[in-house]
Amino acid sequence: MTVRFLLNEHACELTEFDPGTTLLDYLRYSCRRTGTKEGCAEGDCGACTVLVGAPSNGQIQWRAVNSCIQFLPMLHGKAVRTVESLSADGRLNRVQACMAANGASQCGFCTPGIVMSLQGKAIGALGCDLPVADMLSGNLCRCTGYGPIIEAGEQVQTRVLDEAPLAARLSTIGEGGTKGEWRGQAWFAPRTSHELAILLADHPQAVMVAGATDVGVWVTKGLRDLGEVIFLGDVADLSEIDEGPSNLRLGGAVRYAEAHGPMARLHPDLGELVRRIGGLQVRSAATVGGNIANGSPIGDGPPGLIALGAQLTLRSLSGRRTIPLDSFFLDYGKQDRRAGEFVESISIPRPQPEDVIHIAKLSRRFDSDISAVCGAIKLTLDQGLIVDARVAFGGMAATPRRARGCEAALIGAPFSEATLAFAAEALRADFAPLSDVRGSARYRLDAAAMLLRRLWLREQGAGISVLQVEAVDG
Ligand SMILES: Cc1cc2nc3c(=O)[nH]c(=O)nc-3n(C[C@H](O)[C@H](O)[C@H](O)COP(=O)(O)OP(=O)(O)OC[C@H]3O[C@@H](n4cnc5c(N)ncnc54)[C@H](O)[C@@H]3O)c2cc1C
Ligand code: FES
Ligand code: FES
Repeated sequence: MTVRFLLNEHACELTEFDPGTTLLDYLRYSCRRTGTKEGCAEGDCGACTVLVGAPSNGQIQWRAVNSCIQFLPMLHGKAVRTVESLSADGRLNRVQACMAANGASQCGFCTPGIVMSLQGKAIGALGCDLPVADMLSGNLCRCTGYGPIIEAGEQVQTRVLDEAPLAARLSTIGEGGTKGEWRGQAWFAPRTSHELAILLADHPQAVMVAGATDVGVWVTKGLRDLGEVIFLGDVADLSEIDEGPSNLRLGGAVRYAEAHGPMARLHPDLGELVRRIGGLQVRSAATVGGNIANGSPIGDGPPGLIALGAQLTLRSLSGRRTIPLDSFFLDYGKQDRRAGEFVESISIPRPQPEDVIHIAKLSRRFDSDISAVCGAIKLTLDQGLIVDARVAFGGMAATPRRARGCEAALIGAPFSEATLAFAAEALRADFAPLSDVRGSARYRLDAAAMLLRRLWLREQGAGISVLQVEAVDG
């Protein structure tokens, strides 16, 4: 196996290595570049943040990612910048100078990661237009307090440089792609969906890796050997986004940070939901397709997409089939994905003026936390009557699931406070949720029912804060 990339502008070529090696381990143990820190090794703390750049339309698209859950072969044909690159001439760069001037560092353990996230803002990386607090929601600091860090970040200006020469250099470095084998572990990186379909037909047991925000943790925390891996991140047509007049179509390997704008334009609640999926480093790697394909009962994408009526297109060498997203989730850990199939795209119908929609994530911590309950309601109204209802929840059952009893209580009834209260009671019979660290069964049922009330109050123009709803927890 040969992997070629640029590390702080120097060409690296690796030949004999374990493809499950993380970028963080390579930086710290092979290169002795220990500026990049290991805090959690599972994508949560941001201490290991680096910038990864790839050619895009003749320029470079930079992304801030957690190096602890990126595998080395994912970097083929890309540029990596670590904190060491910023002050190679012995002087603080403009981001570091802002941090120092604002007293934004104490023990300094989180500081390289925070500096690299802010460097992403400085060079126009994916998500650089977010408010600084959102950009940094994936960077945890135990000692400084976020006030000075955010002030430092606000002083950082974005300056996008012409990086056509770097893009051309990376295209040459990445030519021919990468594939190979190391002691029984194999890595394939197809460039088209057709190549992917052929590979999956030949290797139906291979693990697909898209952003590796789940699979990375299987390795760093679950200590798993992956065996055969097929990497989806270089499949160009899986990264396409089509904002059509009646549908938003997302390719199966579109990252959440790329889908954020189009999803927010589809409906603001969807944008707000994406803003709260992991931190920016997670969203800059994690794909919408991976969030669906993993079948997690607490994945944040599926409830909203189910309520909006999304369709999933699965593809294999024998062809394509398109199914309603809700029918994909069969049981805990069991999805309607046949051998050799992959998620090719997700198509989300645009809401109509007569639709009333509410999508909300409830978690113990606002930023970068897993949902206790994630719910989505879409009601279609005609002359004051609810003519259609789609209500879906995550965190309430073994899979993301529709609340059929609740929907039945809504359809055909007038759109009124009494109807929503009645449907909220019906909802309690739809689910028998678990109690766990994220919330008790009672909290989950109360919180889910409360979303119907919140939809009603919002339609009446009442301002509802998240805390008011979360205060349901007894
Ligand atoms: C710190 C942290 C915070 C997180 N926060 C959230 C959160 O707030 N909300 C949330 O919902 N999730 C969260 N996650 C989980 C994860 O980021 C998401 O589920 C993500 O969308 C997975 O996408 P991925 O591309 O990284 O998947 P990968 O890890 O690459 O793959 C996940 C699974 O999906 C399969 N797969 C991937 N793409 C395809 C495809 N196109 N076709 C078929 N199978 C495929 C893989 O084989 C694998 O089984 C978090 C994860 C981390 C590490
Ligand atoms: S070490 Fe914590 S996110 Fe990577
Ligand atoms: S300065 Fe100590 S963890 Fe942030």
